[in-house]
Amino acid sequence: MLDKTKRGWWKSAVFYQIYPKSFQDTNADGIGDLKGIISRLDYLEKLGIDGIWLSPVCQSPQVDNGYDVSDYCAIDPMFGTMADMEELIREAKKRGISIIMDLVLNHCSDQHFWFTEAKKSKDNPYHDYFIWRDGTPDVRPNDMWSTFGGPAWTYVSELGQWYFHQFAPQQPDLNWENPKVRRGLYDFIRFWVDKGVEGFRLDVIDQIAKEPDNKITSNGPRLHEFLRELSKEAFIEEGLVTVGEAWGANVERAKLYSAPDGSELSMVFQFEHMGLDSTTWEKWDFAPLPLVKLKDCYRRWQQELGEAGWNSLFFNNHDLPRIVSRWGNDQEYRVESAKMLATMLHGMQGTPYIYQGEELGMTNIKLELEQYVDVEIHNMYRDRTAAGRSHEEVMESIWKRGRDNARTPMQWTAGENAGFTAGTPWLTVNSNKEQINAEAALADPDSVFYYYQKLIEIRKKYDVIRSGSFTLLCPEDEKVFAYTRDTEHGHLLVVCNFSGEETPFECPESYRNADVLLANYKDRSNVLRPYEAAMFYYQD
Ligand code: GLC
Ligand code: CA
Repeated sequence: MLDKTKRGWWKSAVFYQIYPKSFQDTNADGIGDLKGIISRLDYLEKLGIDGIWLSPVCQSPQVDNGYDVSDYCAIDPMFGTMADMEELIREAKKRGISIIMDLVLNHCSDQHFWFTEAKKSKDNPYHDYFIWRDGTPDVRPNDMWSTFGGPAWTYVSELGQWYFHQFAPQQPDLNWENPKVRRGLYDFIRFWVDKGVEGFRLDVIDQIAKEPDNKITSNGPRLHEFLRELSKEAFIEEGLVTVGEAWGANVERAKLYSAPDGSELSMVFQFEHMGLDSTTWEKWDFAPLPLVKLKDCYRRWQQELGEAGWNSLFFNNHDLPRIVSRWGNDQEYRVESAKMLATMLHGMQGTPYIYQGEELGMTNIKLELEQYVDVEIHNMYRDRTAAGRSHEEVMESIWKRGRDNARTPMQWTAGENAGFTAGTPWLTVNSNKEQINAEAALADPDSVFYYYQKLIEIRKKYDVIRSGSFTLLCPEDEKVFAYTRDTEHGHLLVVCNFSGEETPFECPESYRNADVLLANYKDRSNVLRPYEAAMFYYQD
């Protein structure tokens, strides 16, 4: 178990993200709940993780699955009670697992008391908690577009004003320029710290300092000033781990966010690697993965951010398609490619995050349009078909990139609804549950699950993974991703074949007699086989 009183303990930690709605249902309403998470803590302890990032569980009308909070200090009844949450925190802690809550500070729900008050009149004390512009219903303040499609402004005729929302109209953006808003949010954070929560993931934190009049949403001029205040006022305890979602971060910005003096956050989720396999800035316009670019991207983040800040390491979350379907092969080489991808990521410097089901090699799903639930999918379908794209083309985008790919229920067993619920699941269970489920994985020593368990063990055991320098090998190779990590005495080599074909790889001389820490093929061969991966280590 990690000593969490130690400064920077999270640099040696591995986190696991739970999307509560899809994890485990216990009362047959088809929706995962807190009791369900408690019932699966032993499974997570077995995997070896140190903390759980819990997607939002606060009270919410669920327009955006909890990312529209109507009460920051109440648990949504759909997930259980405050007593359940307290029990989860306690039970997790017993197993050395910290609970990291998701904080949505950029916006709240239109059902939040602040907004229902704000809408009453221009002189209501909460009016200035949001971003308003005077106007007439026919002329929007400007042409800014919401991330979920449609305009970023909605008109309130009683006030003769427009309010700004970067996401759905039911998610009005908070006005961070107002010190009362900031103070109010810090109080919510302190409420949860007092309950024993040990960290936070900060939703779209790069957008809090927006300037809509200048069409600036992310990286606004006051962003880092706000973050330093937030950190000073609300993240008082040394041991808290904080990770910000920052789609707009580059290496230079990440250094500010994750400065080692702790003045802002522990680390950010940066997304550069997630944009490489698209033909435009829009995720829906998918393209094959350019491996050479991906390698260069990781090289930069590893070498330039390194100890000047801190990296997060992830492929998946509740907004991203399943990695084995995206960069691996979710058919004949599903197990090999899931392990290969994990090897590549978990050999790097930073803090890894595993998204529920990733440790089983769970895959994307293909549904009919009506079966999807995500607001983003339906808005995109509406906008793109209206702009003349065919149904078939848009469905391809959804199958490849839709967020519901990640949100299908966790596959626990081969049985009915994959053991997720005794009722009707809120989102269709993947029909591959028969082959891919936790029960089968736990019974198979060669499963993806045990491979992840081993990777977590290795991270704890070998200091070179936590602190070694990073060198990319064969940067121009279009199939092989290989790198070394070095400390004074420890040396690690990671080799991954990203292709479904055999490909040669020249093992560096110094590793000829090194130990194999982990590999996804049992025997050795002088070429790399499809999706083959291995980790070598020696000490001098
Ligand atoms: C983040 C969340 C996403 C949510 C959005 C708005 O990107 O990860 O799920 O829809 O913010 O809160
Ligand atoms: Ca339930």
